[in-house]
This record gives sequence, C-alpha cells and structure tokens, in this order.
Amino acid sequence: MLRNYKYEPNKLEVFTTEILGSTVLQFYYKKYIKSLELKDNEKILDFCCGSGSLAKNIKRLNPKSKLFFSDISIRWHNLARIKLDKFSKVGSVSFSSLIDSIYQKYDRIIVHFVIHDFPNKLHADIFKVLIANCKSGGVINIREPLNDNHGFKLFQLINQLESLQELTYDYEIRDIPLIGKVVDVLCCKK
Ligand SMILES: C[S@@+](CC[C@H](N)C(=O)[O-])C[C@H]1O[C@@H](n2cnc3c(N)ncnc32)[C@H](O)[C@@H]1O
Repeated sequence: MLRNYKYEPNKLEVFTTEILGSTVLQFYYKKYIKSLELKDNEKILDFCCGSGSLAKNIKRLNPKSKLFFSDISIRWHNLARIKLDKFSKVGSVSFSSLIDSIYQKYDRIIVHFVIHDFPNKLHADIFKVLIANCKSGGVINIREPLNDNHGFKLFQLINQLESLQELTYDYEIRDIPLIGKVVDVLCCKK
C-alpha cells in the first residue's frame, strides 16, 4: 500500500516550511540534534527529510557523519538535494529503494514529524520499512506531535510499537516552546 501512496506539498507549504526552517526553527533543530548524541561512525538516514533543513543542521553539527536522506515526495526530495549538495558524505536514497530495502542498512534512522502525516492505515507499512532498513542493534529515533488538532494519539503509536517483535522501545513526552507537545521514541532493533 505504501508503494502506491503519493504525496506532494503545495507551493505555500514549501514556501512557509523553507522560511521557518531557515529562521525560527534553527535553534529548535540544533537542540534536537544535540539530544540525539549522533556518532561520527554512524550511518544515518533522515527518513522523509522534507525540505532538508534538519539534515542540513545535522551536517553542520556533525560534519563527519555519513548522512543519507529520502522523501516520498519528489518535490521535497529535490529541494533537500539542492540544500545538501555542498556537503561531503551525504547520499540521496530513493523512497522506493527503502521500500525494497535494497541498500546497506543504517545504524540510525531519524523520523522527525513524519508518521502522523501519513494515513493511519499506512503506519504499519512505515514501521516495516524502518525495521527492514535498520541494522540489528541500530536505533530509530521518532519524534511526533501530540497536539489535538495536528498529530495523533499516543496510544495509537504505542499500540503499533507493542505489536512489533523486532523492536524494544522507550518514550518521553515533552512540551517544547513554539512546537507544543511531542513524543520522543527511542527504538532499538533487536
Ligand atoms: C512535516 S514534514 C517533516 C519533514 C522532516 N522530517 C522535518 O522534520 O523537517 C512531513 C513528511 O511527511 C511526508 N508526508 C506524507 N504524507 C503527507 C501528508 N499527507 N501531508 C504532509 N506530509 C506528508 C512528507 O513528504 C514529509 O516528508
């Protein structure tokens, strides 16, 4: 089902995301990235990277990291590619290759404000793709909004995680200025 799902942002969404990503969200991104404690030797995937602002800040803060990015949207993917072109040790990965999990697996997969934007019926498929692309012993960092009008219910996510034999997980709820209530989930692949 995920294979047939298509999403492209409209021009207004691209414009506002670019403006926010290069201004007020800079401080937020940096704080989030520091909290992940990334290591130079990790092979990292930014899953559904959007405009690439998060990935760009990862490279600024961790220039030696091996970072790969992908998005289901061709428009987002191309915008991220333009932003990340100038950095070394950065690779673009097509979303279909993640679905087929045909490349080497990742030590860490970052999933930031992504799952809640997909229809509920595709969440199980997304977790299948994440698990298939994560190395054994690797980590999946998920952050999702928990706001009433934007985001999803925590129990949906927990139910999903409980059904997965391949992962152990822990989570923390935070209230972040400007962003609102979020859940941070740290998943480890067995
Ligand atoms: C809010 S963006 C997050 C991008 C990036 N991870 C970040 O934090 O900047 C949501 C992501 O979900 C994907 N997506 C899939 N279906 C979507 C939908 N119906 N609405 C919005 N985004 C959707 C987009 O392509 C994008 O990669």
